[in-house]
Amino acid sequence: MIALGCDHGGYALMQEVIAYLEKEKIAYKNFGTNSEESCDYPVYAKKVAHAVADGECDKGILICGTGIGVSITANKIKGIRAALCGDCFSAKATREHNDANILALGARVVGVGLALEIVKVFLETPFSKEERHSRRIAQIEQ
Ligand code: RB5
Repeated sequence: MIALGCDHGGYALMQEVIAYLEKEKIAYKNFGTNSEESCDYPVYAKKVAHAVADGECDKGILICGTGIGVSITANKIKGIRAALCGDCFSAKATREHNDANILALGARVVGVGLALEIVKVFLETPFSKEERHSRRIAQIEQ
């Protein structure tokens, strides 16, 4: 189950992400926002971060204008490793190396085509489980 959240700046791109998830038959839970009316990104970033941290959802996708606000907010929640990605290399590496559990996207930074490729890579790439990466991830929380 993928937790989804965005602000007004990410709303349009989130509709594209939802269409992609539905096409691929990937289950999701949408925590809003549900329109392009101005809103506060921390509200939605916290909902998604808690859903992932509590185990209600396996991973999350957060979108705001830059992706920065939602990633900063999500990373305040214990157990969350939110990665702001603007390219597929980073999306793959953050899954393999950081076991990132939330993908943050900047709707005003990346186009729809690239964003959906990033989503695909992020969701399909497993954590490497290599000892050095597990060790470093454990150090994040210490
Ligand atoms: C909203 O205008 C914008 O500040 C927000 O979407 C995001 O970019 C914040 O980091």
